[in-house]
Amino acid sequence: MKNLVFGMSMGMFLLAACSVSDRTFSADNELDYCSRQVERTLKDLKDENGVTDYTMMPRNILQGETRWNCRKATSEEWCSGFWPGVLWYDYEYTQDESIRQEAEKFTASLKFLSEKPAYDHDLGFLVFCSYGNGYRLTRNPEYKQVILDTADTLATLFRPKAGTILSWPRNVQMFGGYNTIMDNMINLELLFWASKNGGNPYLADIAISHADRTMKYQFRPDYTSYHVAVYDTLSGEFLRGVTHQGYGDNTMWARGQAWAIYGFTVMYRETKDVRYLDFVQKVADVYLSRLPEDAVPYWDFDDPSIPEAPRDASAAAVVASALLELSTYLPAERGSAYKDSAVRMLTSLSSEKYQSRKTNTAFLLHSTGHWPAKSEIDASIIYADYYYIEALLRLKKLEEGKPMF
Ligand code: GLY
Repeated sequence: MKNLVFGMSMGMFLLAACSVSDRTFSADNELDYCSRQVERTLKDLKDENGVTDYTMMPRNILQGETRWNCRKATSEEWCSGFWPGVLWYDYEYTQDESIRQEAEKFTASLKFLSEKPAYDHDLGFLVFCSYGNGYRLTRNPEYKQVILDTADTLATLFRPKAGTILSWPRNVQMFGGYNTIMDNMINLELLFWASKNGGNPYLADIAISHADRTMKYQFRPDYTSYHVAVYDTLSGEFLRGVTHQGYGDNTMWARGQAWAIYGFTVMYRETKDVRYLDFVQKVADVYLSRLPEDAVPYWDFDDPSIPEAPRDASAAAVVASALLELSTYLPAERGSAYKDSAVRMLTSLSSEKYQSRKTNTAFLLHSTGHWPAKSEIDASIIYADYYYIEALLRLKKLEEGKPMF
């Protein structure tokens, strides 16, 4: 145990000590860079007549390509909320009305999600990144109603016996039970928000039940996580932990661990229950203790082909954003260590190695989407950009002494 603690402290110390930036890192410099890339993308999304199809959302730019591959905003496309979210964050930074108008138009393409039955758990990603940020910045009452209605829709996936939200209804047979994936932790924020803003208070109970069951069953004794927990459809009993997007059932899939760090930080924010605060530090520490020198993880910490394995910049962006928030909930020394780790991650992501710059119009290179399916490997992916700009804004607010939310 002593060795583990020593290893973790050393990991955090090394993270703070190394520097890989090729120019001066600052939140403002990198946010300016993001704004320039957003302008390039907006131009690129127009057709030859200068018309934008606001239902087509940037999803990825694969190796060798220079333009976003866009996907139609449908219930099945889980990434459609990130581009509107990027625009809202860019608007928050620039206060540029033309960016706000673009954000509004892309956001409006997702309204249908509040009007139809749930396809799966991704409703939080879809609607809170878009409408959630939109409401935070504009207080548009129509946005509020969309968020409230979507929270009720997400709640229909709650399975009381299992005590969790069924993440992928379409995959129950494939997994041999109700599946709850770690990514699902991110969607709880939508439920808390709704419960506190005129929705049913029961929505918060669902979120707490989901998080508690996840905390109990979806982690190994060393606090690394299973991507998927499978629960018996009749009794709700926990059956097994497996992977879907990781290297193996017992490996640490980088983005899964990142979702856990982010999700349990939100749980503490929303409940102020110290169980979550204690827990998330353990989940974060095992991640930090095993990072490579540049603080951007390999896509799975246990891929035997490391150091040749691809990285996942998206996981680094998610964790950086989460750690900045977590740092504000802890006593000075512990909090600063997490903040320093986050700055180290953002500095690395902002270096020539990870920023897209002239290569393409995304913010970042080198994310891995779904390695087992051989999909989106070492690519620019929209959610990496979303959490990167979110983290930069959080850092800016932190440094300026402004509230993060
Ligand atoms: N939510 C799916 C993923 O993280 O790839």
